Amino acid sequence: MDIFSKRRQFLSELLEENSVAILFGSEEIIRNGDVNYPFRQNSNFSYLTNFPESESIAVLDEKNFIIFCKEKNKLKEQWDGEILGPENTEKYGATRGISISECRDILPELVKDFANIYCFESSIKKLKKLLPNTESIIKPLDFEVSKMRAIKSEEELKIIKEACRISSLAHIRAMKSVKPGMYEYQLEAEYIHEFMSHGARACAYPSIVGGGKNSCVLHYNDNKDVLNDGDLVLVDAGCELNHYASDITRTFPVNGKFSKEQREIYEIVLEASKKSIEAVISGSNPLKAHETSVKIISQGLLDLKLLEGDLNEVIETNKYFDFYMHRVGHYLGLDVHDVGGKNEKGDWVDYSPGMITTIEPGIYINENLNVPNQYKNIGIRIEDNVLVTDKGFEVLTDLVPKEIKDIEVLMST
Ligand code: GLY
Ligand code: MN
Ligand code: MN
Repeated sequence: MDIFSKRRQFLSELLEENSVAILFGSEEIIRNGDVNYPFRQNSNFSYLTNFPESESIAVLDEKNFIIFCKEKNKLKEQWDGEILGPENTEKYGATRGISISECRDILPELVKDFANIYCFESSIKKLKKLLPNTESIIKPLDFEVSKMRAIKSEEELKIIKEACRISSLAHIRAMKSVKPGMYEYQLEAEYIHEFMSHGARACAYPSIVGGGKNSCVLHYNDNKDVLNDGDLVLVDAGCELNHYASDITRTFPVNGKFSKEQREIYEIVLEASKKSIEAVISGSNPLKAHETSVKIISQGLLDLKLLEGDLNEVIETNKYFDFYMHRVGHYLGLDVHDVGGKNEKGDWVDYSPGMITTIEPGIYINENLNVPNQYKNIGIRIEDNVLVTDKGFEVLTDLVPKEIKDIEVLMST
């Protein structure tokens, strides 16, 4: 049995008796005129069906797995490439393939006798449009599937490790090729080149390439400015491989040498990175890893006199927040900000073997903060991808250096 069939079987056993699940694939999205954005299948749909096309709906109960999809069409296929058609859904494990054009008529009949219809929350509106008169109870599938997706199988780990390796190679390439006068988008091109050369056809998210003051903008992705001598550049870039994300940040000097102030701030973030990674232990809560990073960053800023007060006060009154305003990490998988982080009550879920989290502390000193000028416009984040194991943790992104001396050596060769 392939992994997709196993997942469907596992899921169908979790659902209440007399239930059916209805899953929706992604739709094409127009970019402009008659040009679409590159198509990306819905992560949950892909996880459970592996069916790659838009305009697809899957219906799943204990015995049946039905796929509604586009019909084959010679003329369309001449322009846009092969359409699988209902006749080929068998290859994906379907017990029956039906044209999507018949869905409105056939679906209500197919599901009318089930007491419960499970569906992801994001597609409840679509479901109600297709089944306006249903008497079944509509229930969310999200938590059940999120729990499954949170723990990665051997097959998934193999893909994510390869994605992390490719992204690490891209960061190494960028450190070797950056120089003053280059545009941020030219450095971005080095990443895309490395991703594609190794078979990763997409970025997991828009790359953030921010030099100087742009390094202080968390999700900066204009990537349009010149990289200046004496500035740092923060790059948050990761490839997507077979739908799985990697998510790495490194911050390095455009001219290859950290200044005194850049070094001081970098060492604080580096310490936070190492100690927070050590807090990624099965049974421990992500809150603890976050608190570790907050303590180290707050103490470091106090030592440099960029913050005033004592440690407890700085933490309790959130004074550190002007410099460090995000969480230390998030789960990683089919989505870069993956599902499975919180339980039904909204609490953070403890780490378990097979989960992958990012650890990404940062300090961002924007020019409006009341600090000496030489610290302004320094933005530093160090982000790694960390697998929770039985024995502890495994850093999947340690191919790319993060010690100052290692970065400087790499950049000088
Ligand atoms: N790349 C987005 C993030 O680090 O969360
Ligand atoms: Mn991240
Ligand atoms: Mn990131």
